[in-house]
Amino acid sequence: MLTVVIVSLFLGAKALLVPASFGQYGWYRGNAMKEVAAASIAFAGRATCEGCHEEVVKVKAAGKHKGLGCEACHGANAVHAEDPNTATSKIEDPRFCLRCHAKDFSKPEKFPQVDAVEHAGKDTCRSCHKAHTPTEAPAK
Ligand code: HEC
Ligand code: HEC
Ligand code: HEC
Ligand code: HEC
Repeated sequence: MLTVVIVSLFLGAKALLVPASFGQYGWYRGNAMKEVAAASIAFAGRATCEGCHEEVVKVKAAGKHKGLGCEACHGANAVHAEDPNTATSKIEDPRFCLRCHAKDFSKPEKFPQVDAVEHAGKDTCRSCHKAHTPTEAPAK
């Protein structure tokens, strides 16, 4: 009797709690696919940026940052790519470079990384490095 009660409690709870679309395609909610597909796109993708900003591509190709996608630094910019007139992009943090270059033992040794205090003191990174071609110093 007890076994029957436990099993039917389990089956009842399962029928109540498992979302309807679960298992439609696999071991997840089928509706999750629709929900994700309906979200608006935040990133334009590198090729889109490069299509309009050929000058930047040319400059950047000569420097050590040639491998980086635009949105790695400029942030998700699909809104600007869609309509360049209404939305521009700003990099607010003057030391955003440290997101990638802060010294950290977990990074591969060969990746260029600096101790911010030792290397830059209180200066901003771009007072000495151009962002698109970082081994060049900006014009004074
Ligand atoms: C449809 C063409 C087009 C696309 C696509 C586009 N841009 Fe632009 N972008 C422009 C125009 C036009 C301007 C304003 C004129 C200028 O400064 O070149 C501009 C300006 C900018 C600026 C300078 C903003 C400022 O305030 O000085 C940045 C940074 C920028 N774009 C980054 C990007 C990034 C990153 C992408 C990809 C996500 C991108 N753009 C995609 C056309 C485009
Ligand atoms: C390493 C980070 C980094 C990458 C990668 C990068 N940018 Fe920039 N970019 C900057 C910074 C910093 C500025 C200075 C303006 C600011 O503060 O927003 C800038 C300025 C610009 C400007 C303003 C005009 C100029 O030339 O100074 C444009 C346009 C631009 N970037 C487009 C791009 C595009 C397109 C790509 C990809 C091909 C790209 N950037 C990749 C960091 C980056
Ligand atoms: C999204 C990550 C990312 C950001 C943000 C970034 N960088 Fe880089 N940086 C890289 C990569 C990747 C390389 C190439 C490393 C290589 O060649 O092994 C590089 C190379 C460099 C180099 C050349 C080092 C050398 O001697 O080879 C300098 C200097 C540099 N970055 C400075 C900066 C500065 C200054 C900023 C901010 C304006 C910045 N980086 C932002 C990823 C980044
Ligand atoms: C006072 C000028 C100055 C400032 C400010 C500065 N740098 Fe540098 N940086 C240099 C010079 C010069 C070099 C090349 C010589 C060297 O490796 O020390 C360099 C080299 C680098 C390298 C390459 C190191 C390597 O091992 O190849 C990286 C990465 C770097 N800087 C990132 C940054 C970041 C991130 C900031 C901001 C927190 C910054 N720098 C601020 C002058 C500066």
